[in-house]
Amino acid sequence: MDRHITGSMSVADVVSRYPQTRQFLEESGIDYCCGGRQPLKNACENAGRSYNEIKAQLEQLIELPRPETYGMPQWLQASAGELVDHIVATHHSFMKEQLPRLTSLLDKVYKAHHARHGETIRQLQWLYERLRMDIEMHLAKEEQVLFPMIKEMEAFANGQAPMPEMHCGTVQNPIRQMESEHDTAGGVLAEMRTITSGYLLPDDACETFKALYDGLKAMEDDLHQHIHLENNILFGKAVELESRVCQRSDRS
Ligand SMILES: [Fe+2]
Ligand SMILES: [Fe+2]
Repeated sequence: MDRHITGSMSVADVVSRYPQTRQFLEESGIDYCCGGRQPLKNACENAGRSYNEIKAQLEQLIELPRPETYGMPQWLQASAGELVDHIVATHHSFMKEQLPRLTSLLDKVYKAHHARHGETIRQLQWLYERLRMDIEMHLAKEEQVLFPMIKEMEAFANGQAPMPEMHCGTVQNPIRQMESEHDTAGGVLAEMRTITSGYLLPDDACETFKALYDGLKAMEDDLHQHIHLENNILFGKAVELESRVCQRSDRS
């Protein structure tokens, strides 16, 4: 694969082809998940970053040994089923473990710090509980509807299972719904970052306060990566699979 970065490449394409650039883009505040389809140059401008500086850093990163050599799978080349299993085992499990933990940390921090920081923590709690409720329903829909549909289509396309019960052209519907829910979650995460001034701890923060902000930042990072894998890699594979399935079923 020819390694290069241009300003017209989409940010999603940069991270999909070169997964080793994801962390750097995350730390630079450049949106590679919900807004990943925009060209890199525009994304840099939107984040208030110099395109030339970002490009120079990315060029260094893509010269590193290929990501798979240090345990970072190249998901573009994986099967849809492998990617689904990875998303569920890694990102869905992470959310299911962290969502209740952070609710309880928010309660503890509110009790200990409401006198000086009550307003921010209340706002944060409100946003967080909305995010939690949305995400819990979202994960269930993916695990019960969209992901099994993708696996059934792949099994049929590989000749390992009968034609799934589906109408051609309809996988787009759950995908559009999931993308819209991703946008909503991305927006809530951005609001949480804004009201905490980028998770800046107050001077009187205790260890629990720090654990809360560290946990929220880790959740944001994980969710961005999770949404990137779905929006920018998995959903494209699902649409392609559907067209292969429908071509085969037309012929039979
Ligand atoms: Fe997911
Ligand atoms: Fe999702």
